[in-house]
Amino acid sequence: MSAPAYAIPGSTPPAAAAASTPPAAAPASDALGAARSVAEVLSSTQVQAVLQELDQELVGLAPVKARIRDIAALLVIDKLRTNFGLQSQAPSLHMCFSGNPGTGKTTVAQRMAQVLHRLGYVRKGHLVSVTRDDLVGQYIGHTAPKTKEVLQRAMGGVLFIDEAYYLYRPENERDYGQEAIEILLQVMENQRHDLVVILAGYHDRMQTFFQSNPGMRSRIAHHLDFPDYGLSELLHIAGKTLGQQHYRFGTGAEAAFERYLELRMRQPHFANARSVRNALDRARLRQASRLFANPERVLDAQTLCTIAPEDILASRVFQDA
Ligand SMILES: Nc1ncnc2c1ncn2[C@@H]1O[C@H](COP(=O)(O)OP(=O)(O)OP(=O)(O)O)[C@@H](O)[C@H]1O
Ligand SMILES: [Mg+2]
Repeated sequence: MSAPAYAIPGSTPPAAAAASTPPAAAPASDALGAARSVAEVLSSTQVQAVLQELDQELVGLAPVKARIRDIAALLVIDKLRTNFGLQSQAPSLHMCFSGNPGTGKTTVAQRMAQVLHRLGYVRKGHLVSVTRDDLVGQYIGHTAPKTKEVLQRAMGGVLFIDEAYYLYRPENERDYGQEAIEILLQVMENQRHDLVVILAGYHDRMQTFFQSNPGMRSRIAHHLDFPDYGLSELLHIAGKTLGQQHYRFGTGAEAAFERYLELRMRQPHFANARSVRNALDRARLRQASRLFANPERVLDAQTLCTIAPEDILASRVFQDA
């Protein structure tokens, strides 16, 4: 095959990649190369630890977690096949994460990058998150350098393209998005041993995008659907998030937050876990103002950690209801 039209410098060609020494943070590749069982691959890469973290840190998302396990299993077996001299072609790992805002797509993409890195599928394992504006220019000749700069930054890791369908604007005949798509397609094909692309966005719009861009669809090997969270999952996420920040719900506050969520979920622009996070940020702000308003009061750690019902109930969501 001829050289790729768009070879991104700074990335290693397949032959050199296999020969080059791994970076310091890379898994113990001697052990990995000698592995003859699934257990040996798991213990030399510690990929299990990433999967366990994903399981514990993220509430719900059962179908997504199952798919990630499947992909990890495929890669572990692929490693073993390579060790037995059975495999030569790099597996296609480009993915599409579809779901509504705040359903955990970016968070899971970061974990996915770690899994790919530990198993030696990407050199560095970092995640570069971009949208249309990072890839597409405003004038002629502006787009290719922008797209290539982003690709260069992402080489050796994962390129996460949020709301990927905005790259394609059929209503505008001379849209430069098409140019970015062409470059992406070539690099996704020719340099897939060193770059994994994850496209993300709303489910329906992603489907429409793929219908108009069959080349893109054919390069995406894994489609993961991120469901909306239910009320109890959102409450669970709230408790976890507060705990991470060393706060907790005081008496009656969790019930107040549940009522808040019931109302908020029916309003426009509800964004799942992101809305939970934002609501808790505002509750912390109100708690601080409440304590600040009483400067003589001697405080203790418990008071400083406690979100009271009034910190929730002062939300505009209750006034609008
Ligand atoms: N299942 C979950 N358990 C705990 N926290 C979660 C979960 N899903 C998302 N979060 C938290 O919610 C926030 C938003 O998640 P994330 O950015 O991954 O979602 P997204 O789907 O990429 O959203 P957006 O479309 O807004 O970019 C993050 O702070 C994340 O840690
Ligand atoms: Mg995101």
